[in-house]
Amino acid sequence: MTDPGFVHRWQPGRSHRTLLLLHGTGGDENDLLPVAELLDPLANVLSPRGKVLENGAPRFFRRLAAGVFDLDDLRFRTAELADFVADMSVRNNFDAGLVTAVGFSNGANIAAAMLLLRPESLSSAILFRAMVPLEPEPLPDLPGKGVFLSAGRTDTMIPAAQTERLASLLRDCGADVVLHWSPGGHSLALPDITAAREWLRRRVRTDPA
Ligand code: MLT
Repeated sequence: MTDPGFVHRWQPGRSHRTLLLLHGTGGDENDLLPVAELLDPLANVLSPRGKVLENGAPRFFRRLAAGVFDLDDLRFRTAELADFVADMSVRNNFDAGLVTAVGFSNGANIAAAMLLLRPESLSSAILFRAMVPLEPEPLPDLPGKGVFLSAGRTDTMIPAAQTERLASLLRDCGADVVLHWSPGGHSLALPDITAAREWLRRRVRTDPA
């Protein structure tokens, strides 16, 4: 078989649902495995490692400075990641129409870019500490896509206005967006995961694959 293109973890589950785990800057494919177990223990798990290195720290796309993204690279990496997910769905025989991205920080940003640039690759997304990655023209149509955005009230990296802008951008595209505010900062904490799990359970109940 050809090289899948990303260092990754694949864990087959006991449902048709797949969680695509996308770590933050400096993380790897193992970081969010415990989060996946809490969110949906029956789901398949696909967890790639970002290929861009920033001073040795893996990321999913290049940035020029904190919060300033290299948009050409972001577009390229988003397409590459969406192609990887499609390829893995064939290799591992999972339903490409039932993929939920679970991203943290840089991983949440590329997940948001996937929704905006390659919407067919995700059915829903849980975005922990996301920013607006880019604003494509024209905007995609995202009816039926569920997005759970979890932001930190005291996050010093992401101003509240950024989070609100992302929520309204996705709503303008027709996505069903829930914006959840956690009391903490940029780090992912248990209240984020608990709220995301409840949101995901409600979605799974309406679509019990
Ligand atoms: C990004 O570069 O995607 C954001 O600044 C978040 C991060 O630091 O990873």
